[in-house]
Amino acid sequence: MEYTYQGLDKDLEIAKEDTYSTDLDRFGPLDCQFLRQIEGGDIPNCEPVSLNSFYSRTFCTKRGMWAIVTAGWTTALADWIGGRTAIEIMAGRGWLTRALSEHGVNIIATDDYSWDDTHDATEPVCKVEQMDAEEVALTHLDREVLICSWPHSTEPFQKICRLWLSEGKSVVYIGEDNGGCCVREDFELRLERLEIDMPQWEGMHDCVYEVLERGEDDE
Ligand SMILES: C[S@@+](CC[C@H](N)C(=O)[O-])C[C@H]1O[C@@H](n2cnc3c(N)ncnc32)[C@H](O)[C@@H]1O
Repeated sequence: MEYTYQGLDKDLEIAKEDTYSTDLDRFGPLDCQFLRQIEGGDIPNCEPVSLNSFYSRTFCTKRGMWAIVTAGWTTALADWIGGRTAIEIMAGRGWLTRALSEHGVNIIATDDYSWDDTHDATEPVCKVEQMDAEEVALTHLDREVLICSWPHSTEPFQKICRLWLSEGKSVVYIGEDNGGCCVREDFELRLERLEIDMPQWEGMHDCVYEVLERGEDDE
């Protein structure tokens, strides 16, 4: 099936309507291993080969995984965080927090659980505290790094980033650049790409960024 990306809302619509079977044997061995590990609630130790597969992407999003989380590339993010304490907002089922925890990062996952009706699998893969992202940002300023992957919309994410940056804290964003998925072109903060290579579904351009205030030289 040819897949043309039509936006996050369309994806959510598709995810709500389709019921995906778990007949994975028609995939090649690595894709099959990747999807089976997700089905089992484990962090995949391999990457999908068929990155152009609409089926595989929807299989993952229906299981609450928007950015492709694997044990491999998350090691580099864990190294970047180092000994700092972290908190993830809009964490969904907690895939990223689970992977980072497995690499030794001290991190808490939070989500308001508003995704419940769009997913086949809703059981968190690690402890995910049910909390609105803005409330988390205000009450967990004791943490040093705030992480958000595939925020549902630009706001309240931008407001949260501003608050955290004003407190001298670090913010990591995983998603597309301004105007792509997750943040609109009117996102006013600077996205500086970290040298961390993560796999992307074909047509997606999500990367790992540090969110920074714009300097005088920035457009
Ligand atoms: C597109 S999913 C991304 C999930 C996960 N971070 C990932 O990358 O796979 C967006 C998530 O944001 C959560 N969410 C939306 N609005 C929220 C809010 N105001 N506070 C906390 N979580 C929210 C939804 O429940 C959903 O899990």
